[in-house]
Amino acid sequence: MSIWRRKPIHAFHSDAKKSELNRVLTKWGLTSLGIGAIIGGGIFTLTGIAAHDHAGPALAIAFVLAGVACTFAALCYAEFSSILPVEGSAYAYSYGTVGELFAWFIGWNLILEYMMGATTVAVSWSGYFDKLLHLFGINLPLWLVNDPLTAAEKAAELGIEAPTFAFNLPAFIITWIVTGILVKGIKEAARTNNLIVILKVTVVIFVIIMGAFYINTANWLPFIPEHIVDAKGVGHFGWSGIGTAASIVFFAYIGFDAVSTQAGEAINPKKDVPFAIVMSLVICTVLYILVSLVLTGMVKYDALDLKAPVASAFSSIGQPWAVYIITIAAVAGLTSVMMVMMLGQTRIFLGMAKDGLLPKNLFGRLHPKFKTPYRSTLVVGGVISIIASFTPIDKVSEMCSMGTLLAFSMVCLAVWMLRVRQPDLERPYKTPYLPVIATLGILSNLILMSQVRIGTWYAFICWGILGIIVYFAYSRKNSHLHPGNEEKANNY
Ligand code: ALA
Repeated sequence: MSIWRRKPIHAFHSDAKKSELNRVLTKWGLTSLGIGAIIGGGIFTLTGIAAHDHAGPALAIAFVLAGVACTFAALCYAEFSSILPVEGSAYAYSYGTVGELFAWFIGWNLILEYMMGATTVAVSWSGYFDKLLHLFGINLPLWLVNDPLTAAEKAAELGIEAPTFAFNLPAFIITWIVTGILVKGIKEAARTNNLIVILKVTVVIFVIIMGAFYINTANWLPFIPEHIVDAKGVGHFGWSGIGTAASIVFFAYIGFDAVSTQAGEAINPKKDVPFAIVMSLVICTVLYILVSLVLTGMVKYDALDLKAPVASAFSSIGQPWAVYIITIAAVAGLTSVMMVMMLGQTRIFLGMAKDGLLPKNLFGRLHPKFKTPYRSTLVVGGVISIIASFTPIDKVSEMCSMGTLLAFSMVCLAVWMLRVRQPDLERPYKTPYLPVIATLGILSNLILMSQVRIGTWYAFICWGILGIIVYFAYSRKNSHLHPGNEEKANNY
């Protein structure tokens, strides 16, 4: 049946030959890219909500749980990337191995991962930017730095009248700045990105070491606050709270798979991409667990700031200079995550357009001078800027996590299916005990999905249905593998 048709492996190789990317990335270069994509809004912002509302000091346990779930998926990703070292991430891998509809559906969920991921980071960026302005004595009005819902909540907290209109201007502006950079090309941006990654990691290590001196162990008690149910009937804390927190901080790990979108630039992709995927995840897991212990040790969890918790923890211990350093690094670091996420999105769209599954005019055309997929970049930037201006951060981050968790589960399943169907395929990296790891990966991802709010589930199901409709209404017929479309594929 056509929904199971697969893109032939030789087509990937001829795509790769047409690509003129330079193979310059070593295994540590790729790892640094992974770390650059991973460390962002999750650790700098969502830790506040996760500890304050759901886990308390047990935030560290939430990070361990989410990290373990990601490790299973990362090991499966690693095998996939060693078989087909091509750009395009899980979408491309599954198109070559499982089948078209499966691949389409992964791609559809990756839109949530990359696009909603960039949106979350834009809102997180705005929180730190606002803090930075504040440090320099500039205070923007509530309605200009928040979405309408958050602005109303804040106004209620402050006991002032809710603004009639609210719009997150910094999130809107940063999205268009990044869009502009991506339209012009990323050569210079890539160089700056490396510096930003170094700055970001240095600051995280600084937070851990400096913060360790200010830990008050009394703040860790009780480590797992007692479970309570609020007036709206929503549960907080206890083990179920840790589960919710794990589903929130899962966002902090997203990005290790972005390494797989860079396979085209790797010197030895079959070996180094799997290495970088796993290594960047391991390094970030260790850093995250330490940061969460330090943060909840420095400040009582119920006093953590929700918009810029890491920087604010240092104000509360009377170290304002550290606040400047962290805030500046966060603003720069978050910009780089946005860049990687938006770039990843346009590359995935480009891959899908090249296969005929998305309109080439919109997603596949390159700019005559800059050679970037400019139309697609503008569409992505436009959508992100609007959603980021009007939506609270937890709503977008949850949609991002849902899409990613489903895509990860599908990757675990696909790698396993492929092992059974084609056991003799050359696999430079083989996931150990695959049936066990894949099963644990699928289960842990589904458990994390079950922790997400019901409202997000409704939105997610609608998104899935829309994806199936688009596939049958457009993509299936326009696929280059569809009978009669061979010509289009050759002309691409
Ligand atoms: N993991 C990335 C972040 O936390 C998406 O911003």
